[in-house]
Amino acid sequence: MSALGFTSRFSPMLSNRFLCQTNSLLFSFSSSFSSSLKIPFKALSCSSNSLLHNNGTTSRPLSTSSPLSGLEDELVGYIFGKKKATEMAHLVWRHVLHKGDIAIDATCGNGYDTVAMLKMVADESCRGRVFGMDIQTEALESTSSLLDEIVNQKEKELVKLFPICHSRMDEVLPEKIAVRLVAFNLGYLPGGNKDIITTSKTTMLALESAKKMLMSGGLISLVVYVGHPGGREELETVEGFASGLCVDGWICCKFQMLNRPLAPVLVFIFKR
Ligand SMILES: C[S@@+](CC[C@H](N)C(=O)[O-])C[C@H]1O[C@@H](n2cnc3c(N)ncnc32)[C@H](O)[C@@H]1O
Repeated sequence: MSALGFTSRFSPMLSNRFLCQTNSLLFSFSSSFSSSLKIPFKALSCSSNSLLHNNGTTSRPLSTSSPLSGLEDELVGYIFGKKKATEMAHLVWRHVLHKGDIAIDATCGNGYDTVAMLKMVADESCRGRVFGMDIQTEALESTSSLLDEIVNQKEKELVKLFPICHSRMDEVLPEKIAVRLVAFNLGYLPGGNKDIITTSKTTMLALESAKKMLMSGGLISLVVYVGHPGGREELETVEGFASGLCVDGWICCKFQMLNRPLAPVLVFIFKR
């Protein structure tokens, strides 16, 4: 496949600082999430129930009233324990991804994330690509089966799966690709061998590769599990990586349940 490139359609907007704390959730923004999101993210005030962009798997009516339309339901659902971290992640992807984009699933697992991002980038003229990887062939088989179940053959052809460690993504992906999303759902394969897990060292290498491939207006999304051995260290690695990125170029934030210490932590790293 030849290298594909996309340029950002957005210009940077003003920075904000947002910090909101409830009994169970800490949500902090080091700055505005606004420069290339489909929604201006200048402040987290919500007023409408409808969706501004209908780019993913949901089909809600278009709205003209709220810049945060669509996000508020999921965020509130997450705050009140009704939405999972992965659902929140998908929602954020939906506000970043466009039809025709390139997305990377760095940890395919059972394929739910691969399918979700494919639905968001695939268009009728067969643009959009998803590159997926996993160190376990069992996981890639599972992903492939899920794709067979849920998407059509044309859509499936937009996905390329690699049985490799994500730290080697730059060896297998086309040169100079402009990637809109690199997603990590860390830890072990649900229903699989719990000893085969992502590690701080390779996650860090993969994050460095992802950083280079990401286009302006792109997102690195991580769901980090801290309940297994090495999980907390991996979170520290991810946080160290994100907090070291320059404010002028990157917006990094974290969602964390304060009274559920083993709940997955969401980290979003957005390139202005
Ligand atoms: C939590 S699961 C991913 C769930 C998946 N995204 C889904 O939607 O079902 C984590 C996956 O990461 C994979 N993995 C572990 N280390 C890896 C590495 N170094 N590179 C790529 N994948 C890795 C595991 O094999 C496992 O399938």
